Amino acid sequence: MPGPTRYDQVAIAIHWVTATAIVIQFALGWTMISLQPPSYLHFSLHQWHKSIGITILVFSLLRLLWRVLHRPPPLPATMPAWEKRAAKVSHATLYVLLIALPISGWAVVSASPLNIPTFLFGVLPFPHLPVLPDLPDKRDAQHALKILHEFGGWLLALLLAGHVADALRHHFLIRDDVLVRMLPRYRRLPTFRRS
Ligand code: HEM
Ligand code: HEM
Repeated sequence: MPGPTRYDQVAIAIHWVTATAIVIQFALGWTMISLQPPSYLHFSLHQWHKSIGITILVFSLLRLLWRVLHRPPPLPATMPAWEKRAAKVSHATLYVLLIALPISGWAVVSASPLNIPTFLFGVLPFPHLPVLPDLPDKRDAQHALKILHEFGGWLLALLLAGHVADALRHHFLIRDDVLVRMLPRYRRLPTFRRS
């Protein structure tokens, strides 16, 4: 039986919802750290960043499960073996970061000496990670976790820049179907002609 030639609709939907959320998440992250506390905007942007970040974590876990259960289309036969390997390694690294980065942010919040509670989207109470709230020296732990979260953010941003550039290179320079098979398919509605 021939394999799929496109990503399935669920994989496509999760890919683009996550991509949009990630762009918002970076904008929020970099904006909020430039603001001076205490201010309502500083607090509010942190709450939005936490809510969207945890949503990305949930989507990424579901996506990984979906990916294990559904075979993606094979890469074009014209693609050299080294490039296929590089694509697989970079996608696997993306998955690791899409899960590890939100967890590191969750850890920053959990180790905070201020012990600020999280309400996702202002309504859903969300717990801290275990152990971290009970550490004797939370200030140092939180500082180290902040550096980890910041470093992970830069790593993801760098990888995504390469990911997007490569998708565009495939579409506009190599002109294969790598990008198109990750785009939603629009079906034309039937046209009715007057007789
Ligand atoms: C900005 C956040 C983004 C994230 C986190 C992300 C993540 C991912 C991941 C994890 C995969 C692997 C899918 C799989 O095989 O399971 C993937 C595939 C893909 N992404 Fe993205 N992506 C992002 C943005 C974009 C953008 C903006 C484009 C297009 C310009 C793009 C184009 C593609 C394409 C074409 C594939 C399929 C590659 C293939 O067939 O092997 N992505 N993406
Ligand atoms: C994929 C998801 C995420 C991305 C891409 C992301 C990205 C970022 C970025 C770029 C910053 C600014 C870092 C800096 O330069 O110092 C930041 C800061 C922060 N993030 Fe995230 N984040 C994510 C998830 C989360 C989650 C889930 C939480 C908490 C539940 C969180 C909590 C924080 C906090 C508290 C800061 C401020 C750290 C500081 O004051 O230095 N993040 N994030």
